Amino acid sequence: MSYHNPYTPPRKSATFDDHTLAEIRRAAATGIYDIRGAGTKRKVPHFDDLLFLGASISRYPLEGYREKCDTTVVLGSRHAKKPITLKTPITIAGMSFGALSGNAKEALGRGATLAGTSTTTGDGGMTDEERGHSQTLVYQYLPSRYGMNPKDLRRADAIEVVVGQGAKPGGGGMLLGQKISDRVANMRNLPKGIDQRSACRHPDWTGPDDLEIKIMELREITDWEKPIYVKVGGARPYYDTALAVKAGADVVVLDGMQGGTAATQDVFIENVGMPTLACIRPAVQALQDLGMHRKVQLIISGGIRSGADVAKALALGADAVAIGTAALVALGDNDPKWEEEYQGPRRYHDAGPGARKPARPDCGRPTSCQLSEGHDAGSADDRARLWQESSAQPGTGGPVRADDGSGRHGPDPARRHQLVSGQGRLLIFRPGRKARPMHASSKCL
Ligand SMILES: Cc1cc2nc3c(=O)[nH]c(=O)nc-3n(C[C@H](O)[C@H](O)[C@H](O)COP(=O)(O)O)c2cc1C
Repeated sequence: MSYHNPYTPPRKSATFDDHTLAEIRRAAATGIYDIRGAGTKRKVPHFDDLLFLGASISRYPLEGYREKCDTTVVLGSRHAKKPITLKTPITIAGMSFGALSGNAKEALGRGATLAGTSTTTGDGGMTDEERGHSQTLVYQYLPSRYGMNPKDLRRADAIEVVVGQGAKPGGGGMLLGQKISDRVANMRNLPKGIDQRSACRHPDWTGPDDLEIKIMELREITDWEKPIYVKVGGARPYYDTALAVKAGADVVVLDGMQGGTAATQDVFIENVGMPTLACIRPAVQALQDLGMHRKVQLIISGGIRSGADVAKALALGADAVAIGTAALVALGDNDPKWEEEYQGPRRYHDAGPGARKPARPDCGRPTSCQLSEGHDAGSADDRARLWQESSAQPGTGGPVRADDGSGRHGPDPARRHQLVSGQGRLLIFRPGRKARPMHASSKCL
């Protein structure tokens, strides 16, 4: 008779799980911290944790084909002479030119215009593509002031003063060197190919009183026409909302910790901030306490993926939502079906203002298909054809490529380590060594 020795396999630690172990090993081997896109990946309370109660006897259901459901929303009704009217309460969040190519910005503008909503610039300034193709464009005024231009303040339909982002409240921006093409460098007045970090706070203010002065300056420079939004990352939503209202904001944009980012330290994304869901009620409470609910509009962002998420945010008291990641995914971002094209020899980037009819006739756009210089994207005819083909189908991979298209992933040899985002992962470069992927999960958002 064989003797059976019962065996309990070792239990995996909940504290030192596989990911944590891998991260410690990676950090020990490379000596650098992880930088990635997207918002928090840990599980935090989210809209999935809420359910609607359907109509029954105590609540009378609306008959969809008889009763009208109006989704129109007006933003900026508090002070602006020209508030914005949107057909839907779903707006496109601010995403930087540089993180996104000019083509991606154009595609978002075109989609938003078709849907009757607004899109937003980002760190790095306003491109002609997005101005021309966005019926309603919100211009971000950021701590970095990269690409800031008073003329663009006036070309915009609204201004968003960015105090912070949900993925990194209190943290500055970051744009990896690989994305700094000639055009991006030029617009930001910074060198090409070098990682760029931007300020975590506005250079000319030290607190809420200065925000009030800044808002007044912006109103004066735009003749009190444009709604002024104030965007904050989820940290202290009650007080931040109250202070933004006191400073004179027409609209408060509140971005929870699931909110996407172009690139931020993983440790920051995962450990700083408040879940989107938890931010909404305190912000609404602040507006109610000040008698400003529905007078100052509240836009919520951070992990909005579906109509159900939108409805839940609105039911909790928001007036509208903003989407970043979901819009990029809809465009084809990181979709495996574009991998081959992305790896192919004729990658291209940032085709420049194109021939398509702009949403606004006053944008003064050139009529020919221009391509930016220095990009290895085949002959001019090929590039024009590729661009036309890619833009003919909504959601193609063409417009979303944010790399410079040159095929160069090499580092500046003077630098010991350089992190470069590409092909859906971060690559580590060290002089004399082959580049190797760091995190397959680190998307090039
Ligand atoms: C690629 C990318 C670039 C972004 N750039 C900016 C930016 O320049 N300024 C800003 O305020 N927020 C920026 N954000 C954050 C968005 O405006 C928004 O707050 C966030 O993406 C909302 O969360 P969601 O992506 O889950 O929808 C960026 C987000 C992404 C994904």
